[in-house]
Amino acid sequence: MKSRSVFVCQECGYRSVKWLGKCPSCGAWGALVEEYVQSECPQTNASNASPVLLTDVPVQPRHRIESGIEEFDRVMGGGIVPGSVTVVGGDPGVGKSTLMLSLCGALRDRKPLYITGEESLDQIRFRAERLELARREIAVLSEQCLENILAAIENYSPGLVIVDSIQTLYARDMETLPGSIGQVRYCAGQLVQVAKRSGIPIFLIGHVTKEGALAGPKVLEHMVDVVIQFEGEGNYAYRLLRATKNRYGSTNEIGVFEMRSKGLVAVPNSSAVFLTQRTQPEPGTAISALLEGSRALLVEIQTLVVPSGYGIAQRITTGYDAKRLQMLLAVLERRLHLDFAHTDVFLNVAGGLVVRDPGVDLAVCAALVSSLRGTPLSSDVITIGEVSLTGELHIVTGMDVRLNEAEKLGFRLAIVPTSSQGLYAKGVEITPVPNLSTAIEMLVK
Ligand code: TYD
Ligand code: MG
Repeated sequence: MKSRSVFVCQECGYRSVKWLGKCPSCGAWGALVEEYVQSECPQTNASNASPVLLTDVPVQPRHRIESGIEEFDRVMGGGIVPGSVTVVGGDPGVGKSTLMLSLCGALRDRKPLYITGEESLDQIRFRAERLELARREIAVLSEQCLENILAAIENYSPGLVIVDSIQTLYARDMETLPGSIGQVRYCAGQLVQVAKRSGIPIFLIGHVTKEGALAGPKVLEHMVDVVIQFEGEGNYAYRLLRATKNRYGSTNEIGVFEMRSKGLVAVPNSSAVFLTQRTQPEPGTAISALLEGSRALLVEIQTLVVPSGYGIAQRITTGYDAKRLQMLLAVLERRLHLDFAHTDVFLNVAGGLVVRDPGVDLAVCAALVSSLRGTPLSSDVITIGEVSLTGELHIVTGMDVRLNEAEKLGFRLAIVPTSSQGLYAKGVEITPVPNLSTAIEMLVK
């Protein structure tokens, strides 16, 4: 095999024959690193390349391996597909290793093999003890060299392989550092081939860069079948698992887990876990409902509006887009003639959730006005609706699912956009309103 040198962008995988300061593809500075690549194209027999009709493609019964961890199986689209390769992404400390070790425990009858390049074997043992797993059936291997890992898979013939993490692997033949994009891609490619050939499902744990992309990044997402992300704020116990790519199922479903002292516990009835329990309603808070896959999740928006000191008024958000907040403030100023110019605004989504759903717009506005006026909203009211720049309210997808969940949790009044026709939820007074100012009038007396 011939070996030649190229410069590869570590952010997006762009290749150049000469070094460049700025990547012409993604614009990253100083991201091009020299790598030695081998021309990998295998010799193929030209006569094999004959097309077939779709009707002649044999139907493979796609059986799935259910782990029994219901929240996990749902995100995977009903279970693990044999021979599939899944990347598990997430911030350090979010619980990726814990989740994968729990998976090994759940599938202990299938001869799981947990390969770690990050931790020592006694650290894994300690974690397994903490999780109270039957350690006898789980094989572990501490190894970073790809060739040794491939040999170990061959010899042990496991029924499930976890690689923790793909960034720590290196292939002996490649002259670049572990974690570089070339190494990550090459190692992942080899493991994909093993999975396809042997039918062993393989999970690759991957780290996430501060921009939220998988490090080693997009290239890896293209190569594998499923990408799942584990999200959660370090200080909160709740963790969301979601699929961002799934060749075998929908990417909408989420799984909710709670990190306890003895590992991750699935939270099946999760719609209310992010709400704060209180006896008295507080000014500055409002409840809305998000849609996550086929499920609704109730969310509490907390805001604080205080007179600003000198200098520029601050807008600080946690779990919410600061630009969206700026926009909603502008709509409130212009359409409702409220003055936020001399106030600092803080917005927080309770429970460490990150919210991008426009259906919470109305709740954000209601919470802001409630804090500005020091008047709490009634505790049994829920608001769902997108606010437009003109101050009108628009419906969002899954209004009925969201309202049903609110009904189950005891909400009695729902403020929704006029365009939501024919909505019904038993015991909830559904009040359609045309615009933001009418809604705010009803909500914040
Ligand atoms: P870990 O799975 O190591 O995270 P990652 O692989 O994503 O970096 O777990 C991270 C945190 O979880 C760690 O700070 C300790 C905590 N934890 C628990 O709270 N309970 C447990 O049972 C375990 C195993 C970990
Ligand atoms: Mg880990």
